[in-house]
Amino acid sequence: MLAMNAPLDYFLHADGSASKPVLTLDWVFASIVVAVCIIVGVLLVMALFRQRAPETVLPREDDGLSWIVVGTTLSVFALLGMTVYMLATLEQISKPSRAPALTINVTARQWWWQVEYGADDPAKRFSTANEIHIPTGEPILIVLNSTDVIHTFWVPRLAGKTQAIPGLTNRQWIEADQPGIYWGQCTEYCGVQHAHMAFKVVAETPQDFDAWREAQAKPAALAEGGGRSVFMSQCSGCHAIRGTTAAGAYGPDLTHLQSRQLIAAGLMTNTQDHLSDWISRPQELKSGARMPNFDLPAGDKAALLSYLQTLR
Ligand code: CUA
Repeated sequence: MLAMNAPLDYFLHADGSASKPVLTLDWVFASIVVAVCIIVGVLLVMALFRQRAPETVLPREDDGLSWIVVGTTLSVFALLGMTVYMLATLEQISKPSRAPALTINVTARQWWWQVEYGADDPAKRFSTANEIHIPTGEPILIVLNSTDVIHTFWVPRLAGKTQAIPGLTNRQWIEADQPGIYWGQCTEYCGVQHAHMAFKVVAETPQDFDAWREAQAKPAALAEGGGRSVFMSQCSGCHAIRGTTAAGAYGPDLTHLQSRQLIAAGLMTNTQDHLSDWISRPQELKSGARMPNFDLPAGDKAALLSYLQTLR
C-alpha cells in the first residue's frame, strides 16, 4: 500500500543548477575527510610498529615537534580552503543565473503541502496539493510559508533544504534539467506524521507544463448525481472543488484530484481502493491527520467514490 518509493540513493544525484554545486561540494568534502582518516590511520600504524634501535636516543627538541607543525599547518590550510569553497558554493546557489520564469507558493501544513499557482487573471489561479509541476530548463521560485509549525522543504536532486516557518516567508529556487519525477520530503520534525509529508516535483517540457497548467486552471467537470451532494454535505467544509459551492480551505483542493499520482502526502497511490480506504479510516492509516474517519452508508460511499472519479 505504501507509496514511499523514493530511490535510496536519491540524495546522491543532482539534476539542476541549484543542486549540482552542492553535490560536488559533498564529494570534495567527503574525499578530504576520508583522506584525513586514512592518513591518520597509516601514521598511527607506522608509529605502533616502528622499530627503533635501543641505543638510539632522539634529541629532545626533535621529538615529534616537526610532525605537530606539519599537522597543524596542513589542518589550518585544509579547513581554511574548505571554508572558502563552502562560502563560494553558498553564494553560487543563493540565486539563479537569470530571473525565475515562474513563482509557486508552497504552504507547509500538518501534514501536507499546499501548492498555489498565481496568474494575473484570477480565473487562471489554482491550488493543488503534494505535487509541484515545473517546466524544465527554467529556474522556478518557490515561496515558502507554514500555517502551523516549522517544516522543511527538500527536493534533494534539485536543491538544498529550506525551512517553512509560520509568520515568515522563505524563498528557494529549483531547476530541473530533464523531465522527470523528483521526490521531495519534509525534513524537519513537525509532529507525529512528519514522515508522511512527502511530495513530488514533476518536471515537464514547457509544452507539457503549459498543457497541465491550462487543464488545472479549469473548474471541475460538471457531474450531477448523488455523489456530489454527499460531497457537499460531508466534505465541502474542508475541501474545495472549483466550479461548485465547495470552498473549504482546510484540506487539499480536490478540483483535479484524479490528475495526482498520490494521496495523503505520499502515503498511498491514488487508486479507487485507496481513496475508499482513506475516506473510511484516515486515523488508522495516518494517525493524527486532520481528517476524521467517515463511516458512510454503503450507497453514499459508492456514490461519493464515483463522483471523485469525475474530478479529472
Ligand atoms: Cu512537516 Cu516534517
